[in-house]
Amino acid sequence: MIVNVGRRTAPVHSIARSVMKTTRGHQPHHLPLSRRSFLVGAGGLGAAAGLSRLFPTVAPRAFAQGVTGKERLIVRSVRPEDLETPVALLNSWITPNELFYVRHHLYKPQVDLKDWTLKVDGEVERPLTLTLDELKRMPKATVTVTLECAGNGRAFFDPPVAGVQWEKGAVGTARWTGVRLADVLKKAGVKSTGRYVALDGADRPISKMPDFIRNVPVEKAMHADTVLAYEMNGEPLPALHGFPLRAVIPGWEGAYSVKWLAHIQVIDREHEGFFVKTAYRYPTKRVAPGAAVDPKDMAPLTGLVVKSFINSPLDGASTRAGSVRVTGFAWAGEADIAKVDISTDNGSTWRPAQFGKDHERYAWRGFEYEWRVTEPGSYLIMSRATDDRGRVQPMAAQWNPSGYLWNVIDRVRINVEAA
Ligand code: MTE
Repeated sequence: MIVNVGRRTAPVHSIARSVMKTTRGHQPHHLPLSRRSFLVGAGGLGAAAGLSRLFPTVAPRAFAQGVTGKERLIVRSVRPEDLETPVALLNSWITPNELFYVRHHLYKPQVDLKDWTLKVDGEVERPLTLTLDELKRMPKATVTVTLECAGNGRAFFDPPVAGVQWEKGAVGTARWTGVRLADVLKKAGVKSTGRYVALDGADRPISKMPDFIRNVPVEKAMHADTVLAYEMNGEPLPALHGFPLRAVIPGWEGAYSVKWLAHIQVIDREHEGFFVKTAYRYPTKRVAPGAAVDPKDMAPLTGLVVKSFINSPLDGASTRAGSVRVTGFAWAGEADIAKVDISTDNGSTWRPAQFGKDHERYAWRGFEYEWRVTEPGSYLIMSRATDDRGRVQPMAAQWNPSGYLWNVIDRVRINVEAA
């Protein structure tokens, strides 16, 4: 039997077997979300005008029944766990921890707090070893950040690109609380030779997969909004999200936000490791779809691009003619969203959506558009965000060899029935 886990397919027995391995005593279930959870998920549909009449079609998928606390997420890889949030559940400004996507390249390490310390060394005056308690005694900082994997949307590239086949849900927004990385670095005293801050988690290389080490330029590391978080949405950082400590590099693609952080090294040049020199790089000029790109024409990814998605109505939904509330989120990394436009006629005309009340620098903005539809038929609804730097979501993708930064105008097709 084949189930759809992204646009590519995978034999369900292989997923079931691997899920079973991680399940310890529980039967794996690969049930689609119940209709109720979809209805609740799709934007608090209940009272929303007309939307309680939506009956979305549910594609068969594998859900993360074997991963405690993450049962409602879509399995993109079992070991290590790569779990995507169904768009229907991305319906609140703050994404609850149990619905937050999970991405790691290596296996999740078991971190025992009594053995754990954070080491800070390299180009510093005073190398440090800090316990979690010592970090917690330093001034606290909270930043609300939309974290998105650079590969979110990879499944939509044509020609296809190897890697985790994320669709729309490798993104979420959380309140991250901890200490400013700048405060830790000031305590250690960064020497004038320090140019990058290398961040290494407690996860270890597996086979040919090298250690996950990323580096941040000193200027971004010293920014007052860059934090080392020990809490996520007011709870201790969950194991899958980096317990006991992770970096949160606001507005930059998710791979900078190193989990299970154990070692910070200030270095005088870019780190030589695979995850800096080879991965997470993007062509410096536009390339033809499918073309090979010379590594010298690639540069590290940094900030996220302008993007939006519609979380209600859901793709494939049916509703009756009348009033349809179109909702979603838009974000632009370090930039602010200036407007979101909605089209319900294949992009011929666009109308502005209204913003929700929540607004913080690195967090997505909710948008809403009240659409009056009288004619039954099949409709394409599109959302197009523009940021305050003038960047606009494109009509077509800029293909790149690793399938990063998909940000094409979002679209859902719905069926409108006679009122
Ligand atoms: N940190 C470590 N130590 N190892 C990893 O593989 N993956 C990164 C980043 N931090 C990773 C990591 C990537 S690619 C992303 S997108 C984010 O973590 C995902 O964070 P989340 O799992 O909390 O959503």
